[in-house]
Amino acid sequence: PKEHTLAVIKPDTAEEHREEILGEIQSKSFTITRLHEMVLSREVAEEFYKEHRDKPFFSQLVDYMCRGPCTMMILTKENAVEEWRAMMGPTDPSKAREKAPESVRARFAKDILENTVHGSSSAKHAQEKIHFIFGDISSESEVIST
Ligand code: CMP
Repeated sequence: PKEHTLAVIKPDTAEEHREEILGEIQSKSFTITRLHEMVLSREVAEEFYKEHRDKPFFSQLVDYMCRGPCTMMILTKENAVEEWRAMMGPTDPSKAREKAPESVRARFAKDILENTVHGSSSAKHAQEKIHFIFGDISSESEVIST
């Protein structure tokens, strides 16, 4: 069955490399079910990343995510969570350049904080974050929810 993932093109990257990244997403046969350009408030960024609240980099992460427009998307296909994570590459771009030189982070990320893109880590997380950003999308019923 098809699944959804939540994908984010983070600030700066959303302005500099958005068309290229969207082209790659489409060439990998994802359906872009939703796409919304938005500047996150601190409140929304803090809630979005609440799992990282206790990390030493949390406030820098929130600063980064709020400093310009993000492109928020729902990507849909079989195995969407895993496939978008493969396209992104590892969190740390130095690792990405070693292990996945074609990945988005290997090519565009500045460092482990400013790593250009985000993707849900599981189908369950995807569902939660999609609901948080886009509300109820259950009318898009071609997808079997997991
Ligand atoms: P993302 O996949 O969106 O999930 C959490 C984000 O926190 C991550 O990408 C990076 O932007 C940031 N991050 C993760 N680990 C670190 C770290 N060690 N130092 C700074 N930022 C980090």
